[in-house]
Amino acid sequence: MTDAALRRAADAEHGVFLAESTPVVRRALDAGCRPVSFLLPQRYLETAAEQLADAFETFPEAPVFTGDDELLSQLTGFHLHRGALAAMERPAPRPVDDVLAGARRVLVAEDLTDPTNLGAIVRSAVALDWDGLLLSPRAADPLYRRAIRVSMGTVFRLPWARALAWPGAGHHGMPAGQVGKPHRAPATDGLEALRRAGFVVVALEVTDQAVALEDPVLEPLRYAERLALVVGAEGPGVRAETLALCDVHVKIPMPAGVDSLNVGAAAAVALWELRCRPV
Ligand SMILES: C[S@@+](CC[C@H](N)C(=O)[O-])C[C@H]1O[C@@H](n2cnc3c(N)ncnc32)[C@H](O)[C@@H]1O
Repeated sequence: MTDAALRRAADAEHGVFLAESTPVVRRALDAGCRPVSFLLPQRYLETAAEQLADAFETFPEAPVFTGDDELLSQLTGFHLHRGALAAMERPAPRPVDDVLAGARRVLVAEDLTDPTNLGAIVRSAVALDWDGLLLSPRAADPLYRRAIRVSMGTVFRLPWARALAWPGAGHHGMPAGQVGKPHRAPATDGLEALRRAGFVVVALEVTDQAVALEDPVLEPLRYAERLALVVGAEGPGVRAETLALCDVHVKIPMPAGVDSLNVGAAAAVALWELRCRPV
């Protein structure tokens, strides 16, 4: 469990994800995820028996492993200070069109490889009432332990899908960390699906033609029936090929000499500004 690459491969092969801390385990259970096993610090057994009693009863086939803190740290590579750790069955991947159906606000995470940023963005998206998340093929796994924890388990409330192809990136197939047979998807299943579904596609990026988020010309965008917001990776930002496909670029103005905000912070501002409003 201490080797990230091996863990990702094991997660994919066995179709599991790890929920860390009792509140996160609880949110996963409430969202209908099935536990495979629990790992609990010995000193925490009694409390867990109370807090997770219903889960132990509903899933008697899921073993409860325990040990002292030192043994558990050795096993996991981190200190289990927030109660339970549970291995849970990974929900089947959703097709992009499923996530878009009925959604009015969709966040698009392009190549966000950092699970901490992804988790923070998921938390903001859920808190600001966005309906779905679309990931480019290279983006991190939202069910990676750290992404789940940073999202505070809100990831279980946000429908998400991974596109199999991306502008300028070709067809990547199913990345590690996501199980199931890749469903056949056209080479343009990501952004094209948004267009087909009638979404206005907005890039959050500092470009020459980007309009400042507070500019009154953007007023109609706030009331757009369906809107997708694309955020880019730390470093490269939104890909040029993607920018060319977006309907509008928007930016958060910054003082001279400042290059950018962290993507999680920038996303939170834009998620609020472009949230769904009553018409
Ligand atoms: C750290 S930035 C990318 C690096 C940036 N292209 C640069 O040259 O410094 C990561 C992402 O955060 C968002 N972002 C950060 N600051 C922004 C701003 N002031 N306006 C719009 N988007 C911003 C964009 O989505 C961008 O792709």
